[in-house]
Amino acid sequence: MTAPAVRHIRLVTEIPGPRSRALLARRDAAVVAGLGRATPIAIASGQGALVTDVDGNTLIDFVSGIGTLAVGHCPPEVVQAIQAQAEQLIHLSALVGTYEPYVALCERLNALAPISEPCKTLLSNSGAEGVENAIKFARAATGRPAIIVFDGAYHGRTLLTLSLTSRTYFKKKFGPFAPEIYRAPFPYAYRMGMSEAEAVEQCWAAFERMQIAGVDPETVAAVLIEPVQGEGGFIPVPVEFMRRLREFCTRNGSLLIVDEVQSGFGRTGTLFAIEQFGVEPDIIVAAKSIAAGMPLAATIGRARIMDCAHYGGVGGTYGGNPLACVAALATIDLIERERLLERAKVIGQQIRARFEPLLTDDSLDPLVGDVRGLGAMIGIELVKDRRKRTPAAAEEVLAILGRALERGVLAMRAGLYVNCIRLLVPLVITDDQLDEGLEVLIGAMRH
Ligand SMILES: Cc1ncc(COP(=O)(O)O)c(C=O)c1O
Repeated sequence: MTAPAVRHIRLVTEIPGPRSRALLARRDAAVVAGLGRATPIAIASGQGALVTDVDGNTLIDFVSGIGTLAVGHCPPEVVQAIQAQAEQLIHLSALVGTYEPYVALCERLNALAPISEPCKTLLSNSGAEGVENAIKFARAATGRPAIIVFDGAYHGRTLLTLSLTSRTYFKKKFGPFAPEIYRAPFPYAYRMGMSEAEAVEQCWAAFERMQIAGVDPETVAAVLIEPVQGEGGFIPVPVEFMRRLREFCTRNGSLLIVDEVQSGFGRTGTLFAIEQFGVEPDIIVAAKSIAAGMPLAATIGRARIMDCAHYGGVGGTYGGNPLACVAALATIDLIERERLLERAKVIGQQIRARFEPLLTDDSLDPLVGDVRGLGAMIGIELVKDRRKRTPAAAEEVLAILGRALERGVLAMRAGLYVNCIRLLVPLVITDDQLDEGLEVLIGAMRH
């Protein structure tokens, strides 16, 4: 392993430093305890793939605002677009009147959506809101109530999306949850201890049984799925499974909604991950990297479906705010100009090249059990035992991430068992920065 030419990490205090600790104490006193935080540091600024904390330490960011910053921190084109728009019109509300950036963004998204018929779009503020809107459109268009979701799915934390989300930890005392949600097994081949083809057959058999024993297919408005499960552990849906879901929906008059909040906007090497599955969805939900960190989500779908919601039935005060819209338009320009889709594929290969050799490295504790993902959306699953695939303890994984942070790399966990490391590096990261960050992260796995 050759050392990277330039060192980008610059540590001038321990991590967290005194100013981070002071701000953290203020946060603990002023902000609710239920708001999780993956790290104990406070960030003052960011540029590209680097962040600088309030103590003056510069770190490499492998989290990207939980997959929000495909174009990196503060890209000048996006900053300028926001500044120029702020001088013209910060807010109007699309419920009040019309402004060009909202319309221009919807036109652009309709043209980019991998759906071969005219599309229409609704903008909102967060991934969860985008998913809620998708459910409303699906119910309005089909006149049916039921939604099928999957084990391990994450769709947000509002009450409807929390109902759609799988992991019980997030749900604890927040019920009762929304009705008419049916959960099917997800073909998570690694944890099922079988080949992908076997996992597909097993889960498909359960899906078919569910139509007899769980939910009448004639009441199913939509099947909602993440093409690559994010929070659930960075697990791509097997192509054959997605194809069968599409077939089920077409045959049954249900809609296929893909939640691309985390997998969309270039992360997987195509603008939408679903482009790599050879099937067309009916509705796509995009958010996160769509607007370089500005709060924005888009629910994009076939016009004949999207126009079924009654006049005044959707929208909100802020959804598609002018600043967020111009940020998204500049972000799309940047993804195209900098060829970030190609770059995502290369980054994914580079990450795999570093982690795959660890699949046979017995000196690590915990061990690397699986390296998987799509494009630059790569997860590493850690286990105690390779044969039994026993998940590594969450504390061990968090300890690795803690060591990486102390050495200057921000990375985050994922997975139902909190035993995966998810890599969501900004796609503008340089090769040197990526090398340096990976070296630190792998070093942290070696203690
Ligand atoms: C697949 C997916 N859907 C929905 C959401 C919710 O998005 P938000 O946190 O913006 O509400 C997330 C957030 O991580 C996500 O990964």
